[in-house]
Amino acid sequence: MKERIFSGMRPSGRLHLGNLLGALDNWIRLQDDYQCFFGVVDWHALTTGYEDTSDLRENVGEMVLDWLAAGIDPERSVILRQSDIKEHAELHLLLSMVTPLSWLERVPTYKEQLRELEGREIATYGFLGYPVLQAADIFMYRATRVPVGEDQLPHLELSREIARRFNNLFGPVFPEPEAILNKVTLLPGIDGRKMSKSYQNEIPLAASPEVILDRVSMMITDPARVRRNDPGHPEVCTVYSFHGVFGKETLSQLDEECRSAGIGCVQCKKNLGRLMGEFLEPIRSRREDLAADPDLVRSVLEEGASRARAVAQETMGEVREAMRL
Ligand code: TRP
Ligand code: SF4
Repeated sequence: MKERIFSGMRPSGRLHLGNLLGALDNWIRLQDDYQCFFGVVDWHALTTGYEDTSDLRENVGEMVLDWLAAGIDPERSVILRQSDIKEHAELHLLLSMVTPLSWLERVPTYKEQLRELEGREIATYGFLGYPVLQAADIFMYRATRVPVGEDQLPHLELSREIARRFNNLFGPVFPEPEAILNKVTLLPGIDGRKMSKSYQNEIPLAASPEVILDRVSMMITDPARVRRNDPGHPEVCTVYSFHGVFGKETLSQLDEECRSAGIGCVQCKKNLGRLMGEFLEPIRSRREDLAADPDLVRSVLEEGASRARAVAQETMGEVREAMRL
């Protein structure tokens, strides 16, 4: 029997290269060794984005297409939409009964986000309970391992504490989940800041060669290279960071050519655009094929829901029994 994994992603619509190199690539690899449950956590999206839900459904579909195009395999892995499995709501409620408020208030991301998203009214009951809902996701499938980024470690630690508390009160129902820290290939956005849709500096995962060239042409280079003959400083150049990922073989050569002004930034960007185009082409063309079937996402989510629900019903049977409900 393979160990179980659960991980979730909020439906943010089309994914970008940062999502692939930060999370999705890890999920794809883990499918070989684990029974994986991957959740489109649309209820979690509501915790900060409840005011405008007009794009929510579409965003779910776009993200699932990107997952499939990148290599999440619906045969081997269970792809589920959180809101399709009502058991998540029941377990969230029951876990909320045993989770002290102080545990939630001391989660570092809680206060941070309250500060960062100031102006949006997120001082809500639902937002405070975000990590409880996350624990419910993981416990539902009795996942023992959870691939996450570093930012999610406090949430995972809290879920371990909730599991311990529940098990002490009602008997051993939930394993304490352990993190698998994502291997992350860090790449900035085209403006040098962290790649994020909210900065509009992202490179879409399924970008066409033309879009890739266009995004690369907008990348920030070495500001000291004003004229073609000025020597460059690759260590401060965004284009160079990308060459470090997509053009490893020729990196030391580029380093030298940049410093000696042997290559111009326009040419350098063209080369990068071509390398990235080659890398992303299989994903783009697969996505195009998948999107040609308008029923695909619906049927993948239906199939995923029925497999997920079977496990969820069994878990909730045990939970209700343990709690004498
Ligand atoms: N909170 C996670 C994030 O923002 C998403 C998530 C929801 C999740 N439920 C989960 C991750 C369960 C791991 C396990 O990235
Ligand atoms: Fe950056 Fe390339 Fe220009 Fe050097 S030549 S500054 S690495 S874009």
